[in-house]
Amino acid sequence: MGLSNQQSAEHVIREVLSHFSPTQPDLLPALDELNGQLGYLPRAAIESAARHFHLPTSRVHGAASFYAMWYVGAPPEEAVCLCEDGPCHAAGAAGTRRALEKAGIEVKHTSCIGHCAHGPVAVVDDRLYRDVTPARVHAILAGEEPTPLSPADEIIGIEVDDRAHALLRNVGQIDPRSLEDALGAGAYQALRKALTEMEPEQVVEEVAASGLQGRGGAGFPTGLKMRFTAAGAKSAAGVAYVVCNADESEPGTFKDRILMEGDPHQLLEGVAIAGYAIGAHEGYIYIRGEYAGQAALLKQAVHDAEAAGILGQNIMDSGFDFHIHVHSGAGAYICGEETALIEGLEGKRGEPRVRPPYPTTCGLFGQATLINNVETLSNLPGIIAHGADWYHQMGTDKSPGTKLYPISGHVKRQGCLEAPLGAFTLAQLIEGPAGGMRGDAPFKACHLGGAAGAIVGPEFLGISLEFGACRTAGAMLGAGDILVLDADTCIVDYVLSVANFFRAESCGKCTPCRVGTERYRQILTDLVSGQGTSEQLDELTYWGELMVDSSFCGLGQTAPTAVMSALQLFRDEFEAHARGECPTGVCRI
Ligand SMILES: Cc1cc2nc3c(=O)[nH]c(=O)nc-3n(C[C@H](O)[C@H](O)[C@H](O)COP(=O)(O)O)c2cc1C
Ligand code: SF4
Ligand code: FES
Repeated sequence: MGLSNQQSAEHVIREVLSHFSPTQPDLLPALDELNGQLGYLPRAAIESAARHFHLPTSRVHGAASFYAMWYVGAPPEEAVCLCEDGPCHAAGAAGTRRALEKAGIEVKHTSCIGHCAHGPVAVVDDRLYRDVTPARVHAILAGEEPTPLSPADEIIGIEVDDRAHALLRNVGQIDPRSLEDALGAGAYQALRKALTEMEPEQVVEEVAASGLQGRGGAGFPTGLKMRFTAAGAKSAAGVAYVVCNADESEPGTFKDRILMEGDPHQLLEGVAIAGYAIGAHEGYIYIRGEYAGQAALLKQAVHDAEAAGILGQNIMDSGFDFHIHVHSGAGAYICGEETALIEGLEGKRGEPRVRPPYPTTCGLFGQATLINNVETLSNLPGIIAHGADWYHQMGTDKSPGTKLYPISGHVKRQGCLEAPLGAFTLAQLIEGPAGGMRGDAPFKACHLGGAAGAIVGPEFLGISLEFGACRTAGAMLGAGDILVLDADTCIVDYVLSVANFFRAESCGKCTPCRVGTERYRQILTDLVSGQGTSEQLDELTYWGELMVDSSFCGLGQTAPTAVMSALQLFRDEFEAHARGECPTGVCRI
């Protein structure tokens, strides 16, 4: 770096840091700003940040090097970043990689960036391209503009009797940048009702009576979590936080992005209702760093609502104060895990914490914290406005309400579907809203619930898509992701893409996951290249059981699910690969 460049970098570093308080929660936003302005984090930036935040340089370096979107020490080399995770892999990312490499372009892997219905997805010069088929590679490299896509275009159906009851009802109907439009569509009426007509406990009980289950993956009852957090807050002298989990980094999941992009005020209202219910005065939305446009939209929405007296101090003259902060992540799937997310919000590496204590009693800054998914919180305005009985009119007894299903893979129509829980079996969903199998190739399998979910075969086609029925049939509905694979798919090749994802995203804190995910990647690479052995199939089972039993957090415990379920369902295919044969001809053995 020349002297004047060095001086200007020093100036930028000083200027950026001067805007941040020297407390640790500001560390990651400061590093993000530095990385944005300088293009990377030079040593001088790390050292200056350490002085500014009164932290050892190693702590700042440790945090900075954890997150994939920052470049520590040297600027990134020019390359095309290609997503090759499950849905993009199924859409032909391997062919796209070959075409890029043939054109002499360096290709870097990026994990899923949340546009899975339009794979393969690539980022070139900070511009995001969808549907990057090999045929389009040259046009994109020649500077073709990315095609804009509105969230409404990504909805393939709202299969709810009365559209007014749907979470997606306003998407494409209102301007998401306009508070006036949102108010015209009824936004913040439920918050007003809660603040003026209900005690906080009544809000908690209404949510509990609604039977709403968390939409972030585990389906935990939301009302129960609210009760625990409200009780935790009382015993901690009334300090509590609401955290909205908008990390959405599971390959195959893009529903939360559509909710935030299409109707941001519905989410803000849900966060504020949750805050009132548990006695919190501050809420955080932790949004993945790749959703920069959506984060800006949310910040603007918070600003507009505060300016109108709908959020912030003395909301709607009720005497209740509630502030919402939007915090951007910087590329780490593990930060979707609730305790890792809290570490990130506190300005640290996103490594999971020991549980218990659970966030409901000891979460953000050691206080009682309610963590819920975007879709979960977006349900609260409807429940409070219309009541628990109304909510029970949709869905099943045990799984009430509607669900967003992000659908990708080998179907004619990929995108987001909203339907009452249990309204469709897998077969009905594929044949109905998803338009049937692409090219009319027979169905082979479905990867259900994201990368962490199980692969299910034709015997699952008749299973109703709701939490309980899926669990009874041996799989988790998770966040509702449906990735359909046709008979031309090599299942061993497919699960290698899943293994690559977990290897890239394991945080490395515990040995079973750190080593197990790497071993999975190696064995599956051997198998798809014809170098595998039948002993390696037993090794897959050995490492799978080890990861499930002894990994520290949910990432390692679910990392082997896809491989183990595929091995059980399609053992013949794995054995053929161990003999050096690929029955579908996909693997270039
Ligand atoms: C590795 C891992 C990643 C996760 N990613 C997300 C995520 O992106 N979004 C989310 O809402 N929940 C995610 N979760 C689940 C959260 O830990 C937490 O259970 C959820 O946010 C609770 O919200 P809910 O009760 O509304 O579902 C993840 C869990 C694990 C183990
Ligand atoms: S299981 Fe994996 S992601 Fe979780 S703490 Fe261990 S290494 Fe990190
Ligand atoms: S964007 Fe590629 S899998 Fe999600």
